[in-house]
Amino acid sequence: MKHIVFLTGAGMSAESGISTFRDSGGLWEQYDVMEVASIDGWYKNPDLMIRFYNERRAQLDEVAPNEGHKIIASLEKSFKVTIITQNVDNLHERAGSSNIIHLHGELTKVCNESKSEVYDIGTKAVEVGARADDGSRLRPFIVWFGEAVPLIEKAANIVSNADIIVIIGTSMQVYPAAGLIHYAKRDAKVFLIDPNDVPAPSSSVEIIKEKASVGMRILAERLTKL
Ligand code: OAD
Repeated sequence: MKHIVFLTGAGMSAESGISTFRDSGGLWEQYDVMEVASIDGWYKNPDLMIRFYNERRAQLDEVAPNEGHKIIASLEKSFKVTIITQNVDNLHERAGSSNIIHLHGELTKVCNESKSEVYDIGTKAVEVGARADDGSRLRPFIVWFGEAVPLIEKAANIVSNADIIVIIGTSMQVYPAAGLIHYAKRDAKVFLIDPNDVPAPSSSVEIIKEKASVGMRILAERLTKL
């Protein structure tokens, strides 16, 4: 069975109604990224961050996987599929995909400050000031700017073994995630699905300039002929 690795970003969930970060009208136009998505922001104003992620978590109850997520899940019938996502939502899981690496953490989880204890809370809100079992502040299980990305090595290994790589809905501006593609085998087939112009990581990348849903429809058809 061929191994397809999907590298997904915020654009994957855009059609489900979750805002991207850097498009016009995106989250980083409404919020100061360093206030709500950096470890320094947490030290300065943890209450603000608890509220920000409570809102993001609550939104999960109002959205559903889109056709793009569903087609990816359906490919497990014919391929070995791994998803490496920068997204912190749970839409790949809810679409039925079984092999998902969340590089930047997960909204449905919280942890103690050292991240040694992780708690699954689903879409519940965290009380401002709540404490973990070890007495430290309970915090969102999110990888913030200024923090290490613990799963990056595992992800790089997976990419280096992929036969087909599909990049969907990421501006590829955030490292180390954006560098993962450079671990691809020389003969790996690489596709990029995005409705806007994003710099292709190499000239051999096949670009499908469409939204995730339409792009995945086209890709699924293409895969039957590979
Ligand atoms: P960005 O907001 O930077 O990029 C979103 C990409 O999705 C852009 O290339 C858009 O053109 C594309 N896009 C928009 N609508 C789409 C659609 N319907 N279908 C497919 N693509 C679409 O989001 P990311 O690259 O995911 O990290 O951002 C990376 C990281 O930056 C996030 O994980 C987050 C953020 O700061 C943290 O918060 C730590």
